[in-house]
Amino acid sequence: MSTNGNSRFVVEPGRELSGTVNVPGDKSISHRSLMLGAIANGRTRVKGFLPGEDCLATLAAMQAMGVSIERSGETEVLIDGVGLHGLQAPADEIDLGNSGTAMRLMMGLLAGQEFDSTMTGDESLSVRPMERVAKPLREMGADVATTDGKPPVNVRGQQQLSGIEYKMPMASAQVKSAVLLAGLYAAGETAVVEPAVTRDHTERMLRGFGVQVDVEGSRASLHGGAALTAIDITVPADISSATFPLAAGCLSQAGSVSIKHAGINPTRTGVLDILQLMGADLSRSDVSETGGEPVATLTSKASVLKGCEIPGELVPLAIDEFPMVFALAAVAEGETVISGAEELRAKESDRISAMVAGLQALGVDVEERPDGAVIRGGSVSGGVVDSLGDHRIAMAFAVLASCAEAPVEILNVANVATSFPGFVECMQAIGLKIRQEPAVEQSA
Ligand code: S3P
Repeated sequence: MSTNGNSRFVVEPGRELSGTVNVPGDKSISHRSLMLGAIANGRTRVKGFLPGEDCLATLAAMQAMGVSIERSGETEVLIDGVGLHGLQAPADEIDLGNSGTAMRLMMGLLAGQEFDSTMTGDESLSVRPMERVAKPLREMGADVATTDGKPPVNVRGQQQLSGIEYKMPMASAQVKSAVLLAGLYAAGETAVVEPAVTRDHTERMLRGFGVQVDVEGSRASLHGGAALTAIDITVPADISSATFPLAAGCLSQAGSVSIKHAGINPTRTGVLDILQLMGADLSRSDVSETGGEPVATLTSKASVLKGCEIPGELVPLAIDEFPMVFALAAVAEGETVISGAEELRAKESDRISAMVAGLQALGVDVEERPDGAVIRGGSVSGGVVDSLGDHRIAMAFAVLASCAEAPVEILNVANVATSFPGFVECMQAIGLKIRQEPAVEQSA
């Protein structure tokens, strides 16, 4: 006997989708609040923290390095910062689970410490590329070793780091952030030049903690040695998680779905632009700002979606939302062309092949390309889709199943808890006929 993965979603078709929901806090901002709060002077209070498994891995890692962090509520943490040079050697390897963000940013943070450290991860993280971060860190003088380019990653302490100007070969906020975090420990100026705009939460939050970060066009820089001062942070709702109920609103029969207090940082709103290009009826209201990050209520209404060619510059601005975009394209009228998106192959799964395989299993006309896909919209049959343990693949198919012709079963969905705890309840609240069940035992 063998199992076909961990738990699964079963979703019945039904497009009566409507309502107002809250989605959990932003994952990128939650990770950063823990790391920066840990090396600040004083107590940082974080509200709206994402208690997903990825951020809890970062939380445990910072605790393992001697930082006192209290979970003062389900979504509130208090971090007693130890200062720039106050982290201590962890007793064991640091296990970062499924989280690429945790590992890549922490490589930057650990590069300038006095102690040695080793970072590991789960099956998915263990095959993800880490040289993209190790390379610039070595140029700064860090001693970082990957295992054939992947985790486990060993960082040796007591290295003298010096600032560099790093021209990133790929558009990656994780690489940019790792270099800037190492730059806090480096002599002189550290600068990163990005080939396309990527999320700028690190730059914004560092400024919030009192570090001067200069941004000129595509170049962000800081000087090493600056002390961080603790602050209060309110984390916006994650636009990447909001994408799923928002997409459900678009697919609804005649409904309207709203998400309050969603982050609308312009380096994250590519998905809204893409959906609008596809004809989605979207609006923003109650626009305000919290801790240097813009927020708003986002509303989607029943829409007639049409295919489009996705502009290349929107790719990094919507990088985590592509599983949902692939799925929406499957029911849009006409052809959707996704290109310049090869980075999707280096995410929690190879998201291009995972989406193509899942859509094909549901009878969708889709052609895989090295850097994207061509999807011809039409009807979606029922069937079984393997999410490959990738949270966003699982959630995208769950939403798409609302307009399938028969029930859709999505396998291997436990990792949805890495970014969106409460996903099932949230989607049930707007009327999606979804349930989570244990994996079915199969004869070998
Ligand atoms: C993230 C950056 C993105 C994104 C990831 C979170 C971050 O990765 O896919 O989920 O918090 O910096 P890349 O910048 O490597 O594309």
